[in-house]
Amino acid sequence: MSSSANIYQQVIIKSIKQETAGVKTFTLSYANGGNIPYVAGQFITLVFQHHNKEERRSYSISSSPALREPLSFTVKRLDNGAYSRLLHDKAEVGDVLLTTDVAGLFTLPLKINVAAQYFFFAAGIGITPIISLIKTLLIQKPDIEAVLVYSNRTADDVVFFNELNELAARNGGKFRIEYLYSTAFNLSRARLNKALVRQLLNEYGKVERENMYCYVCGPFDYMRMVIYALEESRVKDEQIRKENFNVNERPAMIVEPPDKGQHRVTIIHNNSSLTINCQYPDTILKAAKKSGIALPYSCETGRCGSCAARCIEGNVWHSYNEVLMDMDLRHGSILTCTGYPVGGDITIEV
Ligand code: FES
Repeated sequence: MSSSANIYQQVIIKSIKQETAGVKTFTLSYANGGNIPYVAGQFITLVFQHHNKEERRSYSISSSPALREPLSFTVKRLDNGAYSRLLHDKAEVGDVLLTTDVAGLFTLPLKINVAAQYFFFAAGIGITPIISLIKTLLIQKPDIEAVLVYSNRTADDVVFFNELNELAARNGGKFRIEYLYSTAFNLSRARLNKALVRQLLNEYGKVERENMYCYVCGPFDYMRMVIYALEESRVKDEQIRKENFNVNERPAMIVEPPDKGQHRVTIIHNNSSLTINCQYPDTILKAAKKSGIALPYSCETGRCGSCAARCIEGNVWHSYNEVLMDMDLRHGSILTCTGYPVGGDITIEV
């Protein structure tokens, strides 16, 4: 690996679709032709220049590779979101964008049969990776039981309304949708709360809790509430996958690693390797940046999974991790953006 390794690729906007007021879908291909490979539920990281400084933003993919759909991502226009405004207000078909690649661990299990029923909880634009997962799941296993609980303010805010209803109609009662509107008159079916999560699990559940698999995507408070409710309903942590779409907010708590000494980090990439020194307060990612090594990353807060790598020697301690599950950690997965080498030198594969 050379420190100047080019991790950037050019992609071109092939089409733009207005989904609802304030939500657009952008379809991409490589600028030199060809579809961009991806896995359902992942995101693409785009690179922007701001005052001569590189800024990265990740956008969830809404298309399905199982349907051979070219990569599309769906974005809500945020008044305080400089890049969502740029995409909504300025981007045109034919524009070339820069990406550092597709990544993310909010994906279907390798074996769909690990669960007999899938529950998807989405709020607002959190539907984006969820629809990618649902389309893919229903193609891979059409007879699987699947339920979507989709929260919005009003019916006008529902993204992919027709597409979701068509999926439900096509899958003959196996895929069911509960739309919730926080402005509804019937308060017992309005804003999602812990009691309603439990009630919906009972109403729609066709299998024992241990045979369910749940996906949750939405704002932080929504996700925390749904995850607590699921855990209180005896759905185990390893049966829950979560994706926080507001990954650019930094966790308030700063924690220090148990070992703040300097250690050597060997980074293996494409059969070549480089060794750098890393010491707190620098994370592995920061130390690599200082050494001029371009590693993949996006949020830099332990919330998106863009920087995931594998530790094949030594130990890594994370100051924050919202994406790797215990199982991933046991298999050596690490996040370079919040990871520090502890107890000695380490070797990682990127
Ligand atoms: S860059 Fe997002 S988790 Fe590390």
